[in-house]
Amino acid sequence: MTLVVDHLHKRFGHVVALDDLTFEVAPGQVFGFLGANGAGKTTTMRITLGVLEPDAGRVTWRGTESRRLPRSTWGYLPEERGLYPRMRVMDQLVFFAGLHGVPSGRARREATAWLRRFRAEDLADRKAEQLSKGNQQKIQFIAAVLHDPQVLLMDEPFTGLDPVNVMLLREAFLELRDRGRTVVFSTHQMEVAEALCESVAIVDRGRMVVGGPLREVRRASGRRLVRISVAEDHRLPWLSAVPGARIIQAGVERSSVELDPGTEPQDLLAAAVAAGARVLHFEVADPTLEQIFIDHVGRAPDEDTTVAPEDAAAVSDAEDAA
Ligand SMILES: Nc1ncnc2c1ncn2[C@@H]1O[C@H](COP(=O)(O)OP(=O)(O)O)[C@@H](O)[C@H]1O
Ligand SMILES: [Mg+2]
Repeated sequence: MTLVVDHLHKRFGHVVALDDLTFEVAPGQVFGFLGANGAGKTTTMRITLGVLEPDAGRVTWRGTESRRLPRSTWGYLPEERGLYPRMRVMDQLVFFAGLHGVPSGRARREATAWLRRFRAEDLADRKAEQLSKGNQQKIQFIAAVLHDPQVLLMDEPFTGLDPVNVMLLREAFLELRDRGRTVVFSTHQMEVAEALCESVAIVDRGRMVVGGPLREVRRASGRRLVRISVAEDHRLPWLSAVPGARIIQAGVERSSVELDPGTEPQDLLAAAVAAGARVLHFEVADPTLEQIFIDHVGRAPDEDTTVAPEDAAAVSDAEDAA
């Protein structure tokens, strides 16, 4: 029983935001929903929550259409963060949990525990407007999970967080996963997804490009890479003696070499040794998610594909306001 995004179509005026988008998320996983800006990630999440209506298709969770499920099924971190600026942090957390039926005593206890693990206990009595962006984001994350939802929909949760908070949030995702919760998060940062996801969907302009368990997505890419580091010239001048091997990234620390089918990693190692290179590191590696993204989409994930509002002629924002 899974979260199924089932042939979703959605247009805003003449902008096609979702074009037959289909994928599945197995429960109890951390799932990366990957795409550049404008790919359709936020639209998909808002349809899942029932905030937006699709033109066609549907989203189901454990066989039931998502918008028919109680709102408390979902824990949603919206891309546009929204706390009450003047309300104290603990008061808002208790308030948001109360909307999902959590009694205030329990909400207060759980909120305190979350604040502690996010090293943010001292924020409880502060007003939201006094917090840094990163701290606001942590509070909003806590607000999204206090009612212990089955599915977390996190829209760009890592954007704007410093490395320590990225780590804390990652640990929280993994712990929720270990408790059987399903965590779906969107990002255009491939290295975050790489470190965290069991499965991914890569989306471009509203279409599914490639998806599935990360390991399978990697293997299916058919690319073979060697990461090598040598004491001498990191541009590997001796590489010209190895047909079917080309350098795709030269770095002082590590250089990456891609091998054509028929060329083996040991051919490379033999050439290095024959040339008298001192090999400090040699590793046969999977392609990175960033490389897989570029292979399939044809451009980098940080390129914006959003259609500017002025191009999106006569689009009503009424749905957004709803
Ligand atoms: N309310 C809206 N009105 C007009 N266009 C929209 C609206 N919401 C999204 N879009 C357009 O739909 C496309 C997908 O947007 P979105 O789902 O926000 O992508 P992502 O979250 O992946 O960046 C973009 O081209 C965007 O401009
Ligand atoms: Mg978005």
